[in-house]
Amino acid sequence: MRSPRDPSATNMTKIRSILVTAALPYANGLAHMGHLVEYVQTDIWVRFQKLMGNRCIFVCASDAHGTPIMIRARKDDIDPEQIISHYHQRYVEDFAAFNIRFDNFHSTHSTENRELVEGIYAALRSGGHLDERTIRQSYDEAEGMFLPDRFVRGTCPRCGAEDQYGDSCEVCGATYSPSELIGPISTLSGTRPVERESEHLFFRLSDFDASLREWVAGGALQDSVRKKLDEWFESGLQDWDISRDAPYFGFEIPDMPGKYFYVWLDAPVGYMASLAHLAKERQDVNFDEFWAADSQAELYHFIGKDIVYFHSLFWPAVLEASGYRLPSAVFVHGFLTVNGEKMSKSRGTFITARTYLDHLDPEYLRYYYASKLGPGVEDIDLNMEDFVQKVNSDLVGKLVNIASRCAGFISRLSGGRLSDELPEPLLHETFVAAAEEIAAAYEARNFSRATRQIMALADQANQYIDHHKPWLMAKEAGREREVQAVCTQGLNAFRCLIIMLKPVLPALAAASEEFLGEGDLAWSDLERPLLGSQIMQFRPLMKRIDPKAVTAMLDASRDSLAGTGKSTETAEPDSASPEIGIDDFRKIDLRVARVLQADPVEGADKLLRLTLDLGEDRRQVLAGIRTAYRPEDLVDRMVIVVANLTPRKMRFGVSEGMILAAGPGGDEVFLLSPDTGAAPGMRIT
Ligand code: MSP
Ligand code: ZN
Repeated sequence: MRSPRDPSATNMTKIRSILVTAALPYANGLAHMGHLVEYVQTDIWVRFQKLMGNRCIFVCASDAHGTPIMIRARKDDIDPEQIISHYHQRYVEDFAAFNIRFDNFHSTHSTENRELVEGIYAALRSGGHLDERTIRQSYDEAEGMFLPDRFVRGTCPRCGAEDQYGDSCEVCGATYSPSELIGPISTLSGTRPVERESEHLFFRLSDFDASLREWVAGGALQDSVRKKLDEWFESGLQDWDISRDAPYFGFEIPDMPGKYFYVWLDAPVGYMASLAHLAKERQDVNFDEFWAADSQAELYHFIGKDIVYFHSLFWPAVLEASGYRLPSAVFVHGFLTVNGEKMSKSRGTFITARTYLDHLDPEYLRYYYASKLGPGVEDIDLNMEDFVQKVNSDLVGKLVNIASRCAGFISRLSGGRLSDELPEPLLHETFVAAAEEIAAAYEARNFSRATRQIMALADQANQYIDHHKPWLMAKEAGREREVQAVCTQGLNAFRCLIIMLKPVLPALAAASEEFLGEGDLAWSDLERPLLGSQIMQFRPLMKRIDPKAVTAMLDASRDSLAGTGKSTETAEPDSASPEIGIDDFRKIDLRVARVLQADPVEGADKLLRLTLDLGEDRRQVLAGIRTAYRPEDLVDRMVIVVANLTPRKMRFGVSEGMILAAGPGGDEVFLLSPDTGAAPGMRIT
């Protein structure tokens, strides 16, 4: 297995075979700016490998199993399959729109995954790495299910803080088991959980202590991640509970009816399943070539820092135990902040991929992330002002400007034809020479370095044009050939920059290839300048970001969430909504109301102004349902309203409550209504 830091890796002439994965996003939420850090980073790296002529396969999938999806399905009384296929489809669309090009995007709820997981399970069993043990766990008798620690809340046994999670206290930091809480309550039913025994299956991670240490010593991890692992080795590897009791949404354990594999056992197997599925579709892809113990191919997992434990301990141990190869490396990235803070709904910085796409070009974000991403695990910040400034100055002001300064003269004075020679071959040589270092930066995932160096070359190209001033020469008769030569040099510089930025800006690259009259450019095309050929009519390749579009995007991120009358539950991953206790829930005053009047709101495409009759009083509510409902159809309709919400001052007036609706948003919003017989003002109990 080759170490990822092998310096010879980039100048090898041998074609490498590489399998790359990005973490599998949970199939109960929408892609957001944080996710995109990972999928953009991985996509850039994969595109770079392909551009270098390597054989690189990029697989992913949606992560379909687990408790949250099961609970959501029970609550909404639908099949979990419906939820996961809905979100799967949304991911496919959003990622495609961001030009993230998977070779396959599969699902962990698939036949391939089930077969692979069952095979792995058999190997773990026959290898003697599984223990059955009886554990005591909180059980919700009303819901008829065992409760994960996070679903139990109560008073901290150490400091007395109320309403703490079942595993730890946020106030004093104590850790404990849910049974130690004072007055524990199930967050699902609001009842007091009981203790029950259950048989569970444990994977003996410590059996793999030596092989994991060896794997880590082989250079598979970044330094800071390796330090973390050293701590974990020091404190001793704990057995891992890989089973869950019914009801659960996942794969049932073959010889243990009523028991399911824990989602984190089958999730990474989804990497294999996605390739297995691809291998069925593509002649040139062979499963064993990438996964067999003696595989010569490289295997890289890109992940965020929150899931290191699973990928650096459990996953390699499971692979080892079941006779597969281990990853060549796991590449960990940091978390995204927006304007220096955690993404937040109220600040409008919890931006979904979809909302971004409604306002801005995905290439901007790809470039901005690239300019921020280094090889380490540091968090990265999306600062909106910096974003606008950087994209406008680098991409429009420097890069595209080179082409727009040269193209017109070639079209007008030379009939669109480039000259047969470069007037300054040395300048071109400088670019070709720089390419090696830039390639090494890409290889090392140091994209910020790569883009910085590319922009320094763009500065050189602009200086060259400034120096020769083709716009002055063009005014003098008889200097057409000189102008043509200078602009040919300029356009060749542009072409080099485009090749080097192609992993980051695939759409701009495609448009530029068309403009230059070229096919699909590869990294090796850098060396050969483009001479004597015909270029197309120039049209602007990229527009500046209008800061108003950013403001509108932030407003929309706010609008589509709290207060506008749309249920926000589905607009974001579940993990963003904290669990609440029954006491919290009782604080919400839900009432039946009748719509007296419904009017469009001037200047807000999504909003309707509703006048509601709540029995004793009337309310005005601004609801984001205009794309789904016609005002006239709403009059006289009964709805459910949150009556004790603090009135919110919005741009279009005050909203004095919120009406409940279900659905992912946009055109798919479904208002909730009471059964016939309910009257305005009735309280929901
Ligand atoms: N389903 C698991 C991964 C299973 S992999 C076998 C999961 N899903 S996730 O949807 O929560 O996250 C998917 C990836 O996006 C993870 O690598 C995670 O670290 C990354 N990110 C999610 N939010 C993020 C930020 N705010 N910032 C950067 N990356 C983030 O974890
Ligand atoms: Zn406490």
